[in-house]
Amino acid sequence: VDKEFIRNFSIIAHVDHGKSTLADRLLQFTGTIAPEKFRDQYLDNMDIERERGITIKMRAARLWYRSKDGSRYLLNLIDTPGHVDFSYEVSRSLAAVEGCLLVVDASQGVQAQTIANVDLALENNLEIVPVLNKVDLTTAEPDKVCQEISQVIGIDASRAVRASAKFGIGVEEILEEIVHLIPPPKGQVEASLQALIFDSYFDPYRGVVVFVRVKNGEIRTGMKIRFMATGVEHSVEQVGILTPDEVVRTSGVLSCGEVGFIKAGIKSLHDAPVGDTITGCDNPTQEPLQGYKPAKSMVFCGLYPADSATLFENLRAALERLSLNDSSISFQPESSSVLGKGFRVGFLGMLHMEVVKERLKREYELELLTSAPSVVYKFRNFKGEYFMESNPSKIPNDARHFEEPFVKLDIVCPDQFNGTILELCQNHRASLEDMRYVSNGRILLKFLIPLAEVLTNFYDHVKSRTRGFGSMDYEFHSYRPSDLVKLDIAVAGDVVEGLSCVVHRDQAYIKGKEIIEKLKQYIPRHQFKVVLQAMISTKVIASDFIQPLRKDVLAKCYGGDVSRKKKLLERQKEGKEKLRQLGKVRLSPEAFAAVIAQK
Ligand code: GTP
Repeated sequence: VDKEFIRNFSIIAHVDHGKSTLADRLLQFTGTIAPEKFRDQYLDNMDIERERGITIKMRAARLWYRSKDGSRYLLNLIDTPGHVDFSYEVSRSLAAVEGCLLVVDASQGVQAQTIANVDLALENNLEIVPVLNKVDLTTAEPDKVCQEISQVIGIDASRAVRASAKFGIGVEEILEEIVHLIPPPKGQVEASLQALIFDSYFDPYRGVVVFVRVKNGEIRTGMKIRFMATGVEHSVEQVGILTPDEVVRTSGVLSCGEVGFIKAGIKSLHDAPVGDTITGCDNPTQEPLQGYKPAKSMVFCGLYPADSATLFENLRAALERLSLNDSSISFQPESSSVLGKGFRVGFLGMLHMEVVKERLKREYELELLTSAPSVVYKFRNFKGEYFMESNPSKIPNDARHFEEPFVKLDIVCPDQFNGTILELCQNHRASLEDMRYVSNGRILLKFLIPLAEVLTNFYDHVKSRTRGFGSMDYEFHSYRPSDLVKLDIAVAGDVVEGLSCVVHRDQAYIKGKEIIEKLKQYIPRHQFKVVLQAMISTKVIASDFIQPLRKDVLAKCYGGDVSRKKKLLERQKEGKEKLRQLGKVRLSPEAFAAVIAQK
């Protein structure tokens, strides 16, 4: 195909604005998928994606379209994941295209992720083609939303196609816009090979399959290629295209401007990371395509099999299998006095964590106890040495000069909820950076906030405080100093490892009280008094106790001999003292899980 007739594009949208539905319609309209093979959300091929209606891994598809002027175009659609956890992948997939469709729900308007995604598109210098979707809804206000797009995003949306992906309205107009507005790929076939990896997966039979966009030069079967970030070299065994099914190219060439896959005997995803540049060993380019960065785990938690003795190895095997296909999962063994042996696992974010947990449960039948999610803290010890740690139990008592990750948080909501959102954010240590109108009656609030604060149910609070009308999006900003302390919890004098947490100094007392309250509910009464303490270093900041079981030793002691009664009580006390020293308080894993469970 002549490059002039190729268009590479992505679709970006706020969650639920109709990206997948529109992709389906484009596939159908162009006859890419035969009607008998069609099922909804064709590109989402993971079960969990389908059930949750979210796109986790992007996929690509090629569409043939004959435009109204009679020319035949090859359109490569690269699907992007919609969620912030995967924003690095969104950014990589956008680096592989020249333009994107910006889908905005005409009844909801511009939302937080619309803005975040547009920012990524602008960073990649893409042509943005706005589409107003869901115009079939009686609540749709396309004109107003047009204005919002112009005002907030700064692109002219007056010509935006008014579409209904659900009812197939406007699909042809959208295809026409793609063909006419999005530029054909640049680059030269004669130049040294530069191909961008925008996705990859591991297949147990075929090894690693790498999805690429060829920016310059061409990839041929048999040629030796080098992965520039990792330095690994391989021979290309197979090249092919995505229809969206993988189809091997008999010609053995994938040329400048094209999107496809390659196989090259690669054994590990780590050798061919998303964002890396492939070049030829013979005539290598000096310049990698810009922007490669390794995926970084932002959220960590301990995962413990309910029966750690027998299932620990199963969990290890399962995590190894999962990480074959998801190089952003990291894990290392960890043990806890209460939960036994398990792993500390790192994720890109909360959704990623949920998805992995769900897969461990479904695909590997592992029932897991999870410790509270945590971010990675930076701190210094008394010698001034820097450390990074995500497990609060492992942070030494002399840790000081804490730093924690902050994120840029965008919230879009109707302006009547302004006050309550500001209050919520203030309670979560956020600072307001900017505030402006998106349109009449709706505002965009920009904050800087510690990542730790948005981990637990923050989104639910935003939703409930705005009666469902608010949306949010966040992105890592930087590490910043915070007045944090490590809070330990002692039960009957022993610090319980997994209950330690890092909190802001002002919240230490409340948090300590809260944990103690929960422990009180879950620890049964013992023969002796069980003291519960919350401590910063060795200083007790809150405490409570669980009353001992009291056997009525005086029951058989009729009459009034006071000294005998006293003696009996004395003896009981001595006995209990002994018990207290000998007996440990046993915390059941269930109680433990309940205490650390997210509120
Ligand atoms: P993610 O994959 O989670 O990012 O969502 P998405 O943006 O792909 O949205 P999706 O296509 O899953 O659509 C979300 C919901 O909106 C679904 O229930 C669709 O049926 C519905 N929907 C999509 N397009 C239209 C439309 O044009 N009109 C109406 N009324 N509903 C639509």
